[in-house]
Amino acid sequence: MRILSGVQPSGELHLGNYFGAIVQHLALQGQGDALYFIADYHALTTIQDAARLRDLTRDVAATYLALGLDPARATFFRQSDVPEVHELTWLLECVTGMGLLERAVSYKDKVSRGLKASVGLFTYPALMASDILIYRSNVVPVGQDQVQHIEIAQDMAASFNAAFGREVLVRPEARLSEVPKVPGTDGQKMSKSYGNAIPIFATGKALKKAVNAIVTDSKDPKQEPLDPATCNAFAIYALFAAPDERDALAARYRDDRAFPGYGVTKQAIMQKMDERFGPARERYEALKRPGSELEDVLRDGARRARALAQETIDACREATGLGRRLV
Ligand code: ADP
Ligand code: TRP
Repeated sequence: MRILSGVQPSGELHLGNYFGAIVQHLALQGQGDALYFIADYHALTTIQDAARLRDLTRDVAATYLALGLDPARATFFRQSDVPEVHELTWLLECVTGMGLLERAVSYKDKVSRGLKASVGLFTYPALMASDILIYRSNVVPVGQDQVQHIEIAQDMAASFNAAFGREVLVRPEARLSEVPKVPGTDGQKMSKSYGNAIPIFATGKALKKAVNAIVTDSKDPKQEPLDPATCNAFAIYALFAAPDERDALAARYRDDRAFPGYGVTKQAIMQKMDERFGPARERYEALKRPGSELEDVLRDGARRARALAQETIDACREATGLGRRLV
């Protein structure tokens, strides 16, 4: 089984990325042939600042390695180290109707949130389909928001195989994590681009600021019971807590008229984050320093990934009639 997923270096990774994607990526690395990459080409749709892109790429790489990505078990690389992915994008675009991309909700969503309506943003799902298909991926672990993109990849694979009468490309399937949609501090989907994220490795003032920004209601526990089911802070706490801890806090919401308020929940979130991420934070800081092993890991991963991509491209060129390159 080939497992593949990508993450954009478009901001510091946050709790939504962690519970929606990273936990699953790490768990799957022992269960098949896993490939994970940093989608830096995709990030160019939003990050157009060279120093920032370089920084964020290192940041994502260091985050994954610090949290437990094992380069001996998973191939870890940068998307842009395998430029063949664009060649397949073009081949896929030539067998794809406009309607398929016009129906993609993420483009409309991003444009309605103020992103520039570039051609790159529009054809984003074609590049993503190519990412998936070029490594002949069977399973693509992602959060809810990416499922439509995987359906697009399924359609493109089928169109390519039908157009050229050969089963060259493999149909991928999405795999959702147990927490497909983590809420942000405002209750919407947590996202790097919505200003509602809590970064995994935030500490001190930055952490306090992010956690304090969690929007809660203005009920007075002395007057009426609080409702854990509609409380955003509770939902975030619940991601970390064991079932008995969760039940205990829910009971305090409902029954404890002396409950001091949502500050208790926010404090508990910070403590949980420190317990969960504290040990990895040191590794993260070390990996981010110049001269760490980060670059060697990515180079080694890119070599392995590129060899796989070249095999697929050769088969696709053959199927289309482009055939072998002359040089
Ligand atoms: P962002 O929306 O912050 O830019 P990405 O689009 O780079 O995040 O997502 C990287 C991975 O994390 C994807 O698999 C995506 O589905 C998952 N993910 C992102 N935000 C969330 C969330 N709030 N809940 C669950 N999964 C998420
Ligand atoms: N679009 C994905 C995201 O924003 C990142 C991504 C790019 C990806 N290519 C991929 C995810 C291929 C899975 C497979 O999260």
